[in-house]
Amino acid sequence: MSVKRISISLPPTLLTLFDKISASMGYTERSRAIQAAMRNFISEFRWSEAPESTGSAVILLIYNHEVGGLDERITDIQHAFHTLVSSTLHIHLDETRCLAVIVARGSSVDIKKISKKLASLRGILQLKVDYFEHSA
Ligand code: NI
Repeated sequence: MSVKRISISLPPTLLTLFDKISASMGYTERSRAIQAAMRNFISEFRWSEAPESTGSAVILLIYNHEVGGLDERITDIQHAFHTLVSSTLHIHLDETRCLAVIVARGSSVDIKKISKKLASLRGILQLKVDYFEHSA
């Protein structure tokens, strides 16, 4: 199997934690653990490439609220998609981090659009989208 080498930048604390967790799961090579993590990422977002459908989604965000203007941007995006967003829950996790859960209902294309806009914001630490197709 041919391979490509890549170089990535990441916070040292993230790498330390990744190595610790992957070792505890039995991965002896970092490359293999990263490949498994990438496959999980692909399977999580594969729905976004499927033909348009109607469904519901739970979008979970963890973000650093000290990043200037981030709270306002997240709110603005939800207002832009006000017909899609059913509900939002906000929890102040600690001094700097917030957890937001956005429940959306409608077209998978629109759910992808709002998810993309949120993911592109600086200060987003984690974004998960669970999409449930209504007819499935
Ligand atoms: Ni908060």
